[in-house]
This record gives sequence, C-alpha cells and structure tokens, in this order.
Amino acid sequence: MMNRKKHTITIAGAGSARVPALVGNLIEMKERFPLNKIIFYDIDNERMGKMEAYDRLVLKTFWPEVEVIFTTDMDEAYSDTDFIFCQMRVGKGEMRSYDEKLPLKYGLVGQETCGPGGFSYGMRSLGAMKEMVEKVRSYSKDTWILNYTNPAAIVAYGLQRMFPDDKRILNLCDQPFSLMKSFAKILDIPQEKLRARYFGLNHFGWFTDLFDTDGVNHFDQLRDYLKHHDFKPFNAEQRAKSWLDTYVRVNKYLQYFDEYIPTTYLQYYFFPDEIVAESNPDYTRVDEARDTREKEVFETCALAEGKDTMDGIPMLTNQVFGKLMVEVAESIAYDLHNEFIVLVQNNGLIPNFEPNAIVEVAGTIGKNGAQGYYFGEIGTFYKGLMENQYSYERLTVESFMEKSYTKALQALTLNRTVIDPQKAKAILDDFQAVSRKYWSLS
Ligand code: G6P
Ligand code: MN
Repeated sequence: MMNRKKHTITIAGAGSARVPALVGNLIEMKERFPLNKIIFYDIDNERMGKMEAYDRLVLKTFWPEVEVIFTTDMDEAYSDTDFIFCQMRVGKGEMRSYDEKLPLKYGLVGQETCGPGGFSYGMRSLGAMKEMVEKVRSYSKDTWILNYTNPAAIVAYGLQRMFPDDKRILNLCDQPFSLMKSFAKILDIPQEKLRARYFGLNHFGWFTDLFDTDGVNHFDQLRDYLKHHDFKPFNAEQRAKSWLDTYVRVNKYLQYFDEYIPTTYLQYYFFPDEIVAESNPDYTRVDEARDTREKEVFETCALAEGKDTMDGIPMLTNQVFGKLMVEVAESIAYDLHNEFIVLVQNNGLIPNFEPNAIVEVAGTIGKNGAQGYYFGEIGTFYKGLMENQYSYERLTVESFMEKSYTKALQALTLNRTVIDPQKAKAILDDFQAVSRKYWSLS
C-alpha cells in the first residue's frame, strides 16, 4: 500500500455542506487513496467560502503535503485532474424547495428524487452534467467522473444516451450502502462481512439475499425482524424526524409484499397518499436539512476562521456518502474489484428486462469501472413496476434532449406517484414557470 500512485482530485460542487466531511474521509483513507492535489470547485464562491477556512485548516493539519486549490473557474477545475467527485445541486436549496413543495399543491408526493420533484431536479441536473462532461472531455479522455448528482437514475441514463461511448463516468448512490450498514447493525454482523443480492433501478429496488462471508444467508432473519419491528437507520440518533419516517414504511410495505426487502425510497410509490397527508407544504426536507445538517456544518466550519490549529474544532467525517466515494475511487485507482451495489447498463444482467436501462445490482468496481453480477429473471410484479419506472426515466431524458413537452407530460403521467394527466399537466406547467433559467420545452 505504501507505493500507491498519488492522484489529483476535483471536488465539483464544493459548496455542498457534505464536503467538509468528505475531506475528513479522504484524510482517514489517505494511505489507501493517496493524493497530491485537491481542487475545490463551485460556481458559488460565497457558499464554498463558508467552508474554505475549515477545509484548508483540516488539510494543513492532517495532510500538509497535499496541494489545495479553491476555484470558481471551470477550466482550472477540469483541465488536469484524475478524478472528479461530483455532487452538484443545480439551483441549490431554492430549487429543491420548489421540487418538494409545488407537487404538494396537487396532492402529489413532494420529494427531491421521486415523483414530480425528481423530474424537475432531473431536468436541471441533465443540463449541467452535459456541460461538465463536455468540458472535462475537451481536456482528457482519462479523467474519471464519479457522479453523485441526483436524481442518479435520470442522470445516469441521460449520460449514457448523450455520451454512449464514454466508459469513465460512474454514477453512484449511497442508499444501498447505507441500508446495508443498518442491516449489519440489526444482525450484529460487521458490514464488511455482508454481501447482498439486490436488483432494481436507482431508488427503486429490492434486497433478495444477504449473505455473510462464510456463505450463511441472513435474509429470512432480517425480513422477519423488519416485519415485526420499526426499521431504524444505523445512525438513528443523528437523523431528523422526516428521515426516520422514510424508514418506518419498510415495515408497512412488508405487511403487503414480503418476498423481498424494499429500498426505503419505494415508499413514495406505494403509499403516496398517506405521505402527502403527513407532509407540511411549508416545511419540507430541504428546510429540515438546512436547519439541521447545513447549520451544524456551517457552524463547525466557522470555528476555523482565522485559526492555525484544529484545537477545539471537531473533524467531520461521514460513514456513508464520503466513505463510499473514497472507497469507490480507491477500487478504480488500484483495480481492486471490491464489491458494491452499482448502477450499470442492464445488458442482460436481468435477461427479461430492457437491455438499455440502468439497473442497480450487486457487482464490483475496478479500473474499467463497474461490472454488475448476473441477476437472472425477475418476477412479473417487479418487472411491471420497473418497466413503468424505466419508461418514466427514459421519457424524462428524451424530453430534455428533444425539448419535448409531450414527452414530459407522458413521463409525469407514467410516474406511479402521479398517474392523473390533469395533475401531470398542472405540475409540469408550474415547474416550467419556475425553471426558465434551467430548461424549457416546446
Ligand atoms: C440518500 C440518497 C441520496 C440523497 C440523500 C438526501 O443519501 O441516496 O440520493 O441525496 O439521501 O439526503 P438529505 O439529507 O439531503 O435529504
Ligand atoms: Mn441516492
């Protein structure tokens, strides 16, 4: 491990409140994924600036040999780098707020990645991601783009459609990783020892088996537990109420369909009405994230202003998002073929499902990117759900590429959380009105 080649990385979207913790994870793993330079890039210098002093101080203290650059210049960010860790949020919290609140006006789910909110966010992300890939590739074919920009399902499918030959874009989601951590806690088995079998689309999938490294399957035990207990995330003490609510309905889902364990995001498609009834249209997840995580991170970072040492300043890390990002980069950089739940083109992994869809399955990551394990045929119920959802994703991407209003309306009507074309049209028109800066249809 001592002789591992050092890399340069760019953190795109360095104004994200998740970045200081990502820096902590990079430091924790500096022997495993050694760096010579970190480029922090954001178009919003003010927001990135709130964390700059902290990011610089923590690196100066624990990793002084790493060169640190902060920039708002796209060329400087992308012209000479090995890995881009990308988590843009186009339109920031202001647009996330519309994504979550406007659907609630029509009794539709208000969530940033599922339902109409995910459509709206997807249209914004596709434009910015297209621009970034074009810029990066104008400099190098080799730079790895590790994309965490949401909604990952739509971004991943869109990038495949727009850059079909690009083999160095890897789309990521930490939710399966996070759920496995929670399963490990329930089963009292270290997460490193658990291997899942899983299939679906991003934020739309199911666990079907859960082996330990000795080959024992703990799935039935876990399912029985979840049928009779509330499901809590592994870090429940640190999570806000709305986040815990998203876990509770795993239990409810299993009262109806107990073959597989669903990802938490499936609740929006199965129980939309009761979720809408419980939502507060004046205070959604974006407000809560701002008042909790973002506030805490900004306060911690403010402690570093004008300081030379970390005395009395906590070092932030994140055991899900940051850890996953660095572990994935490490697995690519040194061709480790470590196992993750990955997003890949189906291409027969699920033989009775669309070959071009981006599916989420267990697999490995190495120097050629992600490779999914063969899963096998899926049952009619799941196939029906996934075909519907994939058609929604595909029409969203095509609507973006062709600027097609008709396809946007078809996409939203297909979405299980919408169904009614009148509501689909109403929410589409509302989103168009607030999104003119980002996208338009004709
Ligand atoms: C999970 C999902 C991500 C999503 C995040 C939202 O990690 O996998 O796709 O972005 O949750 O978290 P937040 O705290 O911002 O609501
Ligand atoms: Mn995700």
